[in-house]
Amino acid sequence: MAKSVFISSTLPREAVGLIPGDFTLDYNNSEVPLSKAELVSRLNGKDGLICHIISTIDEEVLASAPTLKVVANVAVGYNNIDVAAARRRGVIVTNTPDVLTETTADFAWTLLMATARRVVEADHYARSGRWTAWKWDLLWGADVHGTTLGIVGFGRIGRAVARRALGFNMRVLYHDAVRADAAVERELSATATDLETLLREADFVTLHTNLTPETRHLIGERTLRLMRKSAIVVNAARGPIVDEAALARALREGWIAGAGLDVFEEEPRIHPDLLPLQNVVLAPHIASASRDTRIAMATLAVRNCVAVLEGKAPITPVA
Ligand code: GLV
Repeated sequence: MAKSVFISSTLPREAVGLIPGDFTLDYNNSEVPLSKAELVSRLNGKDGLICHIISTIDEEVLASAPTLKVVANVAVGYNNIDVAAARRRGVIVTNTPDVLTETTADFAWTLLMATARRVVEADHYARSGRWTAWKWDLLWGADVHGTTLGIVGFGRIGRAVARRALGFNMRVLYHDAVRADAAVERELSATATDLETLLREADFVTLHTNLTPETRHLIGERTLRLMRKSAIVVNAARGPIVDEAALARALREGWIAGAGLDVFEEEPRIHPDLLPLQNVVLAPHIASASRDTRIAMATLAVRNCVAVLEGKAPITPVA
């Protein structure tokens, strides 16, 4: 019988074109998230699913799709998938590491710089017609070079962020459950610390950890109060790592100086208390969104799905 694949949302043509001609393809070329009922119905009889983070693949969905052999997520993060439930049912889950590392690190730096140097405020001001004379004390921000960068989560993306800090002559602290090799620490000039030390000492705290029960609200009232009043927090990982209500208070009441956020607790909703604040730069979950990287992610997801359905090893299975 022909292998049958469901692509649950829009993918670039380059990636869709990699589905072999002898497979049956059901392609939902839309970015509107499917309801659970629609997802379950379209998965009926399918062998493979290629999905984005907007598809929640939980126990119930997996139970309703007994023919499914592979779920290929078009993202490095896979908190939208119940991996343990998939494993119990013999369904392979894959993600898209590596291809997005540098692009995501670039964007974490974009948020960091934009927040420190108030680029969004500057843009609004420059367009507003209010710029009528050169002003020497206009839009003062914070220096980045020579300061301390705290990286929470020192995997591929965290390390790529650290590598960029070398050019800014920064002191780099990192916190991770797994200590990096001495050679990596040396190459990146990075020092392992406990979380509290990192939060107390960093001028910039950037989050690059997975979302797990342990990291949910890792940044909340207690941890925000440990940070410097001048600290800037960057989150290009997953929204729920930060307690947005607590962050909004911290920004409003001056416990910290600023935040650059690409991800939110209940996307696409942004906590309303964040919206009026000038000292937060907001982006709509686009850290990996360069053209080349998004095509590479989609292509890798399709190749993972096809490999499993052709009886080969997946290229990038989740651990
Ligand atoms: C995007 O959020 C990703 O996990 O790749």
